[in-house]
This record gives sequence, C-alpha cells and structure tokens, in this order.
Amino acid sequence: MTTTEDQPTTPLEMLRAFPAGFAWGTATAAYQVEGAVAEDGRTPSIWDTFSHTPGRVVDGDTGDVADNHYHRFREDVALMRRLGATTYRFSVAWPRITPQVTADALGPVNPAGLQFYSTLVDELLAARIEPVVTLYHWDLPQALEDAGGWTSRRTAERFGEYAEVVAAALGDRVRTFTTLNEPWCSAYLGYASGVHAPGRTEPAAALAAVHHLNLAHGLGALAVRRAAPSARVSLTLNLAWVRTEGTSPADHDAVRRVDGLQNRVFLDPVLRGEYPADVLQDTASVTDWSFVLPGDLELVHQGVDVLGVNYYSPTVVRAWDGSAPRAENDGHGNSAHSPWVASTDVEFPELPGHTTAMGWSVDARGLTELLVRMHREHPGLELLVTENGAAYDDVVVAGQVHDVERTEYLHAHLHAVLDALDAGAPVRGYFLWSFLDNFEWGYGFSKRFGIVHVDYLTQRRTLKDSALWYAGVIAQNAVPREVASLRA
Ligand code: FCB
Repeated sequence: MTTTEDQPTTPLEMLRAFPAGFAWGTATAAYQVEGAVAEDGRTPSIWDTFSHTPGRVVDGDTGDVADNHYHRFREDVALMRRLGATTYRFSVAWPRITPQVTADALGPVNPAGLQFYSTLVDELLAARIEPVVTLYHWDLPQALEDAGGWTSRRTAERFGEYAEVVAAALGDRVRTFTTLNEPWCSAYLGYASGVHAPGRTEPAAALAAVHHLNLAHGLGALAVRRAAPSARVSLTLNLAWVRTEGTSPADHDAVRRVDGLQNRVFLDPVLRGEYPADVLQDTASVTDWSFVLPGDLELVHQGVDVLGVNYYSPTVVRAWDGSAPRAENDGHGNSAHSPWVASTDVEFPELPGHTTAMGWSVDARGLTELLVRMHREHPGLELLVTENGAAYDDVVVAGQVHDVERTEYLHAHLHAVLDALDAGAPVRGYFLWSFLDNFEWGYGFSKRFGIVHVDYLTQRRTLKDSALWYAGVIAQNAVPREVASLRA
C-alpha cells in the first residue's frame, strides 16, 4: 500500500492554502460502520428493525456486521493517522449506552457500551486525532419508537438524559459534542416519505418529529453544558441550497417553501427562538403545531457554539402546474409519499450534467453559498463542514482504486470552502464523508462513499486514490489550484 510519505509535494505557487489550524477529518456514523449489533448489551434500534424488514433496504442489507469497526477500530484509527487526519467525527449508538430505555425512564447505564467509546476516544487522542462526537445519528432505541418515537416529546426528554450520560463520561476528553445529525432526515424521511426508519408515512407525524428533534437539541445542549461545561455544543444540519430556474412568482414561492421546510424550521427555533411564520402557515392544513407547548421555544433556543453543515448536492425546485407527472428528483429515494409535507405544488426537476452514483448532481457552488449565508445571517457563528463527499462505483484493480471522479468532487468542494473563507465565513474544519465505505441506509452496501474501500467479505481496507490525494491536502494544509493533473 502506498503511504502518505510517497505523495509528491506540490509547489507552493500551485496551491491554495487553508488557514493555520484548519481541522481535517473524516466522518462516520455508528450504525453505518460498527456492526456488533447484539454485543456487550446493545439492544435494537429502529435501523435494526427497519433493515431486517423485507423490502426496506436494497438487497436486504443490514448493519449487523457492516465494517465491523466495533472490533477493528484500532486498525481504522491507525489508517486515519496514516492519512494525517487531525480530527474524526463519529456517532455514539444510544442503544449501547442505555439499552433498557423506555419512554418513561432512561434505565441503567451500560458500562460496556460507554467503555467502547471511551476506548475509541483514547485511541484517537493517542494518535493526535481530535474526536468530535455526534450523540444521535439516527439509531433511536426501538423501545422509544414503540412508544411514539420522535412524535412523542418523551423521546426528546430521554435524549436529554442520555446526552448528559455521554457528556459526563467523555467530556473530560471530547471538546465538541453534536446533538443531532440531520434532523431533517430523521423527521421527513423517517415519518413522511418512510424511506428511512421507522418508515412511517404520516405528514403530521413528521412535523411533530421536527419539533421534538428541535426540543431534543435544546435539552441535549443544556445537558452537555451541565455535564461538560468546557465543551462546545453543535448541531449538524443538511442545509439545502435551494434555487429555481423558473421565473414565475410560483417558482420563487416554491424556493421559499422548501427553504422553510428544510432550513429555517430548524435554524430559526434553535438560533432565534421562533418558528418561521410562513412555515406554520404553509403547513396549517396538516397540523396546528399544538405539540409546541408553552416554554418549549425557550428550551429549543440554546443556540450552538459551532454549526455543522452537511452538503452534497443542490436543490432545484419549480412550481408544479398539475399537468405532466410531478417530477420528484429530490435525491431522497423513491416513495409514493413525499417528504415535502404540504408541498404538492412543488416539483424537483431532473438536472442536466454530471451526477454521482446516488444520482445527485454536482455543483460545488452550493457549499460556498450555504456557508456564506450562515455567516451573513448569523455573524460570528463558527462553522464546520461536517459532511461532504460522493459515492461512485469503485472497483479494486490490483490493489488500487482509481476514483478520479471522487477526487475531482473533493477538489471542487474544497475550493468552495476556500471561497467561503475568502468571503469571511469562519469555517474551522472539513469532515469528508466518509472514511470507509459503509451501510448507506436504504441503499445498503450498494453505494460506496468511502475514501477507504471495504471488501465486505474479508473486511479488507484499501486506500483509494482519493484517500492518498486527501492525505496530500492535509499534509500541505492546501489544495492544488488545478484539477487537470488528476487525470494524468
Ligand atoms: C447524510 C448522512 C450520512 C450519509 C450521507 C451520504 O445524509 O448523514 O449518514 O448517509 O448522507
């Protein structure tokens, strides 16, 4: 295997540099990589149930074994170290920490569950890699779903208690805790379109989930600050760069609607303490939002010390005139039920140009636009790119993976980050999704996002060319100006 030391050094004048101290990492999530689902006291999450339900995941794949990271984490940390990564974003599986949780009580803490993450943190620190811990990346304990899941405020209350347990155990070594990853997906893909666990298709439930996830952020932030006062609290959102090529007022209204449902319904309560009036109005036919109880918005309004932004692909909308079949190329899977609650007059046209193996179109400008928008609307708010990357149909040939398209994708998006930095946005780090090929939710193992290839039969890890390229970026804290040489 090639090592990072073999990477040619690009002359300085051909580089665009990142600020000193910029954090370079990769990201994963517990259910996508760990496996070991029945070990050391872990109980099922909604993703165990969902993936074991026939027809839910491509090829019937499950996370039962995944990358077996639970047992191979030392080897994986050693690989990260070889890449020169300075940070790593992973998530904690709630069902390992309090496996007996019910809607009424958190139940006993499972020492073996906590120990796994504590050892992982120590391993990372010994490798000089800073851990960034996500408390919830979609693997809700099944017992909580059985009692209503995110449609119930008790799930948010239990989450706050769970967050306190993890922060108390790891807060002496972990500087950044992220409460939730992409609550948009948890709420709308889980409860409206049903392509994610728990697979429900009830628009009103999805909006109740939105609120209870926001509440969970607030309660989780308070808990982290109590248990680990010096830690930074963050929230990771998959913000959408929404635009239209249409010119009519209805097209522009479609942009406003989707921006409301994906961006502002999370940003506004957390950062401003209020729900956007237009979203409440847009969704009035679905729910009266009476699940927002007096005092909730004060709890939700905990802000963040650093905002995580995940970005992959642009969101293009237009008004649907009701005649031709409604275009639904939103990149969020196939379902007879739309994740876009109360938006039947909005459609998502297919975009021309290059797409990844997910069918997602590539436009790096969106990353700049989102980071600059956050800077403009919330001056001073520190930002992290907590996910960005691409799936391609990689093949290993003679021990190598020539994933030129992924490297080009990364190259373009790192320039987009630099553009945002040039515009003044305080972006502090970049986490590439993903470190390893892994269980890509409803797509199972059919989509490979890793810069490290995983052979699922042997668990063999192979650094893809993109990993070697990324190692070079990290080593120089800079990205080559030109991408052309990549194909040489
Ligand atoms: C994001 C998820 C992450 C991964 C990438 C491709 O929405 O947070 O777990 O699946 O998409």
